Amino acid sequence: MPLIEVGTFTGYSALAIARGLPDDGRLLCCDVNEEWTAIGRQHWEKAGVASKIELRLAPALDTLRSLPRDEVYDLAFIDADKPNYPNYYEEVLARTRPNGVILVDHVLLMGEVVNPEANDEGTLAIRAFNDMVAADVRVDAAMLAISDGLTLARKR
Ligand SMILES: C[S@@+](CC[C@H](N)C(=O)[O-])C[C@H]1O[C@@H](n2cnc3c(N)ncnc32)[C@H](O)[C@@H]1O
Repeated sequence: MPLIEVGTFTGYSALAIARGLPDDGRLLCCDVNEEWTAIGRQHWEKAGVASKIELRLAPALDTLRSLPRDEVYDLAFIDADKPNYPNYYEEVLARTRPNGVILVDHVLLMGEVVNPEANDEGTLAIRAFNDMVAADVRVDAAMLAISDGLTLARKR
C-alpha cells in the first residue's frame, strides 16, 4: 500500500498517515527542507512509524517525475508550493490506481479563492487548479470546507 505526500514540513500529516497504515504500508514523503523534516524524523522514530516512511529531500516535481509510471499509488496528499499544484496533480494522477484518492490541501486559501481582489500568484494558481479539477473527467472530485479547504479526487 504505497502512498505519497508532497510537502512534509515538520512531519505532522505524515505521522497521522503513517499511523493509519498497516505494517507493510509505505509512505513516500517529498520535501526540500532538511531542517523542518528533521523534526518529523524524530517524531516518526518516537511513534514507531519511521520504517514506513521514506523521505526524499529534493524538489518534489523531480522526485515525482523520477518515479516509474508503472509504480502505482493508493493515495496522495498534495500540500506544498501552490504554483506547482497542477504539476504535482498530473504526476500523481498518472501513478494513482483506479479508485485511488488524491487529497489536496489549502484549496480555499482562507477564502481568498473567491475574493476578486486577491490576485497574487498563489491565489491565481489555486483558483486555476480548482477549475481544472472540477472539469477533470478522469476523477470524481469534491471540495470539503474543512480547515483551509481540502479537495478529494478519486481516480475513475
Ligand atoms: C504546508 S507545509 C506541509 C505541511 C504538512 N503536509 C503537514 O500538514 O504537516 C509545505 C511544505 O512544502 C515544502 N515545499 C515547498 N516547495 C517545495 C518543493 N518545490 N518541493 C518539495 N517540497 C516543497 C515546504 O518545505 C514545506 O515543508
